[in-house]
Amino acid sequence: MNVFRAGQHPGWPARLGPVLVAGGAVTLRPVRFRDAAAWSRIRLRDRDHLEPWEPTGRGSWEARNHASNWPSLWTSLKAEARRGAMIPLVIEVDGQFSGQLTIGNIVRGALRSGWIGYWVAKDLGGRGVATAALALGLDHCFGPVGLHRVEATVRPENLASQAVLRNVGFREEGMLRRYLDVDGAWRDHLLVGLTVEEVLGTVVDRLVKEGRAALP
Ligand code: ACO
Repeated sequence: MNVFRAGQHPGWPARLGPVLVAGGAVTLRPVRFRDAAAWSRIRLRDRDHLEPWEPTGRGSWEARNHASNWPSLWTSLKAEARRGAMIPLVIEVDGQFSGQLTIGNIVRGALRSGWIGYWVAKDLGGRGVATAALALGLDHCFGPVGLHRVEATVRPENLASQAVLRNVGFREEGMLRRYLDVDGAWRDHLLVGLTVEEVLGTVVDRLVKEGRAALP
């Protein structure tokens, strides 16, 4: 059980970055009510890019990702954040809404664990944005949030996301059979994990040393 007062949880709210990559200056900040138009515009445009990897939802893609749906989604994300169970962030590139990174199922006590998930607009693909965002998110988890372990699950077919997870040091832990209802069916997922002891320095430092990113 989380023991922090409502609305006061380690690491929430947070503004993280910037980290400089080929795509631009990557920062993370809390979701905002006024993100509706940018969120919907990208998600309606990039349906083919996003839908194969996302949980199956009720209703059409258009209805679920219409700007009018953002206020209820934003409300539920903020409620989870206030409860200390989630850190719902927007990925910005050069100050523009470019995707989302969410730390979810935050459990404290003896587990001190959470999962991490993300998406990035298609037109920014392959320019280091997700790698930088994930590095910022992980350093936040292992720093201010105080987690010991972060995990992620990814479809075996999602090679780009697996590359991103490898870039920041995640280790494969096994295959979860028919794990999640994604894109209309129960899909196998690879489970990857990382604990704080495995991170020497910070994840962002590691990217900088490898020449994948720079600091301003
Ligand atoms: N096969 C193998 N590797 C690939 C492929 C491919 N078809 N396409 C891209 N890659 C590699 C790139 O070479 C790069 O690896 P490298 O840095 O080692 O060269 C890596 O994938 C992409 O790295 P970034 O540029 O940091 O990532 P990007 O900003 O393009 O975002 C992401 C990647 C998040 C997967 C994006 O494509 C996306 O949003 N996809 C749709 C939603 C999604 O899949 N989200 C992740 C779900 S799983 C999860 O959340 C844990």
